[in-house]
Amino acid sequence: MKIAVLTSGGDSPGMNAAIRAVVRTAIYHDVEVMGIMRGYQGLIDDDLISLEAKDVANIIQKGGTILKSARCQEFMSVEGRKKAYDTLKRKGIDALVVIGGDGTFTGANVLLKEFPDLRIVGLPGTIDNDLYGTDFTIGYDTALNTVVEAIDKVRDTAASHDRLFLVEVMGKDAGFIALRAAIGSGAESVLVPETEYFSEHLVEHLRNGKKRKKDYSIVLVAEGNKAGGAFEMAELVKRECPEFDTRVLVLGHIQRGGSPSCMERVRASQMGNAAVESLLNGYSNVMIGIVDKKIRYTPFEKSIKHNDKLNHELLDLAQILSI
Ligand code: F6P
Repeated sequence: MKIAVLTSGGDSPGMNAAIRAVVRTAIYHDVEVMGIMRGYQGLIDDDLISLEAKDVANIIQKGGTILKSARCQEFMSVEGRKKAYDTLKRKGIDALVVIGGDGTFTGANVLLKEFPDLRIVGLPGTIDNDLYGTDFTIGYDTALNTVVEAIDKVRDTAASHDRLFLVEVMGKDAGFIALRAAIGSGAESVLVPETEYFSEHLVEHLRNGKKRKKDYSIVLVAEGNKAGGAFEMAELVKRECPEFDTRVLVLGHIQRGGSPSCMERVRASQMGNAAVESLLNGYSNVMIGIVDKKIRYTPFEKSIKHNDKLNHELLDLAQILSI
């Protein structure tokens, strides 16, 4: 058997740990393994490299992805996918491990429909944690730590100047980063795409805080918040409560970088190992996840449907603890 591994879509810390686990598990089982550069683009361009155990030495601690990543337009066309399939056939590759998020799995799902002789399994690689079928995606924990560390710093200056900071974090469709980071950093409020409640009550909540002698505040805003991002929400606050000295901080792509946390490395290693073993056991068209500490297989189509709801107990907790 010969397999290949790629990383696609937005990179996330822990992808390298996952690649390392895929490569070493494959070699352990006498399976040949190749790396595809720049996700599906490398498959179309025939840009593949052989991977030996030593090629993945000294990467477990590194952010980013040694295989590089891309969002590939060409793969969205039938012709592009045919080229990708032809590369796989030419190289004698039987199966693929794709590491990425919903776009990556959507692509894999279409490729499998067109070329049913292929076998593909996926690993959830995204900081957004917005895939169904795993408690944590690869990159989420590290991104949370990056956000919380940044907020701890902003809090110092916010407290010194009695200011309100609206901090925008990633999550174009989901508020998982915003919600957990809000609780972990002791934020005043959190605005997420899944509920309008906090946006609607923001001004009232901030005014109540002032009455209770809160002289500075941190509000987390997920970039996909329906009522607007941090800049829009800052405009609203400035209009309604000019008494607040308001500032905006957009954390942006630093959330995707940095050395993965230990939990990230361990989970990525477990999932990378499970990916190869599941291919050896005949699995295909599934995302490998970890639910309640156990490996779980979820069909691609189900994993990408945003079936996972934001934890309402955590939303309540964020509200209770910000009184
Ligand atoms: O990786 C997912 C994500 O972090 C989203 O939350 C964000 O909207 C997007 O990536 C931005 O990525 P890019 O700038 O690479 O398109």
